Amino acid sequence: MYKILKADKLAANIYRMEVEAPRVAKHCQPGQFIIVKMDEKGERIPLTICDYDREKGTITIVFQPVGASTMEMARMQAGDAFEDFVGPLGRPSEFVSEDIEELKKKRILFVAGGVGTAPVYPQVKWLCRRGIRADAIIGAKTKDLVILEKEFQEVCNLYVTTDDGSYQRKGMVTQAIQDLIAEGKQYDICVAIGPMIMMKFVCKLTKELGIPTIVSMNPIMVDGTGMCGACRLTVGDEVKFACVDGPEFDGHLVDFDQAMKRQQMYKTEEGRAVLRLQEGDTHHGGCGLCGGDK
Ligand code: NAD
Ligand code: FES
Repeated sequence: MYKILKADKLAANIYRMEVEAPRVAKHCQPGQFIIVKMDEKGERIPLTICDYDREKGTITIVFQPVGASTMEMARMQAGDAFEDFVGPLGRPSEFVSEDIEELKKKRILFVAGGVGTAPVYPQVKWLCRRGIRADAIIGAKTKDLVILEKEFQEVCNLYVTTDDGSYQRKGMVTQAIQDLIAEGKQYDICVAIGPMIMMKFVCKLTKELGIPTIVSMNPIMVDGTGMCGACRLTVGDEVKFACVDGPEFDGHLVDFDQAMKRQQMYKTEEGRAVLRLQEGDTHHGGCGLCGGDK
């Protein structure tokens, strides 16, 4: 069992939990995710890692209740425990394996939207601990939905923007990127993590600006194991599975329109049946072991 050491609410519908999981904490890297299961019969829920402490042996997760399982999960308190807490899964962010001196020469911009702010945190923290202070934009609909502001301020140069202008800058993250560029900022790489629609429009903009961009396709994952086929996407001309090949990809190559359409279809039994029919052998099988629908 994996005990919840702390549980709090970051915003109206955003929850944070610190969980005792020493083996995951020992091995995880920024960009990776875990799968939790509340009890034996519970659904498998893939969640990105918001923070980790190797010495304490803890992992911090942040989530937004969207279905029955995450709603139930939101009721769990410090002292409760998860039946399963599996990870780390997925590939770490690419920069983790880059030469640190080369990385220091790069001007990096992180763009975090809504709950997607959580998985950006371990990335900026990792860089800060190695002497790299990146720029980061946090975008939220309104003041009360801005999360982890204090934590970010400690590890990066932070710009906050709210859609309604109730706090700091006004406008969506794409406006903030344009403003920073207009103010004379230059970037060699952008990492954008948030809702699909945000990542789509950030990529459209950074493509025009000539800034290579990494995105996290975590939102389309369902079981996180390569077997359900939910996270199938097209990157360039290749079929990939977010949970096995990602979750991070070159955002300029991701077909966001197809991924969003597929995400909608995957919500119904009929939609899943159509996808299975259309995609045949490539519907799932991202695990590389089961042979898809063969
Ligand atoms: P939200 O709808 O409040 O949007 C957050 C910010 O994204 C906005 O404030 C805005 O700045 C920007 N944005 C939204 N639409 C935009 C557009 N059309 N153009 C430019 N910028 C835009 O976000 P939320 O409700 O907190 O998001 C929840 C979503 O985040 C869920 O779908 C969840 O799956 C996803 N999420 C993604 C990740 C990931 O790894 N990519 C991780 C956790 C959550
Ligand atoms: Fe099911 Fe990736 S989440 S195949």
